Amino acid sequence: MKVEQLSCALGAELTGVNLADAARDDGLFAAIRAELLRHKVLFLRDQDISRADHVAFARRFGELEGHPVAGSDPEHPGLVRIYKSPEQPNDRYENSWHTDATWRESPPMGAVLRCVECPPVGGDTMWANMALAYAQLPQHVKDLIAPLRARHSIEATFGAAMPIEKRLALRAMYPDPEHPVVRTHPETSEKVLFVNGFVTHFTNFHTPANVRVGQDYTQGRTQLLDYLISQAAIPEYQVRWRWKPNSVAIWDNRATQHYAVMDYGPCHRKMERAGIMGDKPF
Ligand code: SIN
Repeated sequence: MKVEQLSCALGAELTGVNLADAARDDGLFAAIRAELLRHKVLFLRDQDISRADHVAFARRFGELEGHPVAGSDPEHPGLVRIYKSPEQPNDRYENSWHTDATWRESPPMGAVLRCVECPPVGGDTMWANMALAYAQLPQHVKDLIAPLRARHSIEATFGAAMPIEKRLALRAMYPDPEHPVVRTHPETSEKVLFVNGFVTHFTNFHTPANVRVGQDYTQGRTQLLDYLISQAAIPEYQVRWRWKPNSVAIWDNRATQHYAVMDYGPCHRKMERAGIMGDKPF
């Protein structure tokens, strides 16, 4: 296996590996897992593997989970279809910086995304290293956010376009969890800035230490949160990947955010994602 770093921030391309083999080979799988912890997102070309092999490889990391809105392949539970077509280009969007499913109490530890079909140009995906984003924050911001917690919401995001009854049912099924604003990676112990597009507000900003008058609360509620959420958009923290059919990305969802660039015209873009269950952030 050869490993080539793709940006200074994160991401490496693996060559000389077939993921169907890696699903059956303990040593090869362990080597890929170690590279994932090192680089946070791994890329591979020419993975002409079956859906069963895709699922089998992802299962090596842990149990898979579906998505309440996107839906899974019925023959391969846990393999979520993210399909765009010329008829329905915008029925869902991923062009918002996010960490997958932080609206769960225990968001996924990672994902294995395979491209089935893509536009001839455009439709790239970008990832950002949120451990680096945390490390680069000014010290006074680190001090301010150290104790903070934030509410993440499926209702306010996937639910927003639903009729009220469906939205409330979704919320009842996935009550908005609270997570630390800075999480500790359970394997590398890195500190990670853990707010993204699913966050609605801080839950414990409004304390006498932070708020003297209403204007202070507004500043904490909106400006600080916007500032933190915008960190993923800093180019120095990113890598960008151009898809071809049978390209694969494997990412550590505990340390990254990603953004699928929706810059292409009416076209098919078919991606299949195996999401791997994770731990409760601390
Ligand atoms: C995702 O947001 O998980 C999917 C990214 C993509 O479709 O490129």
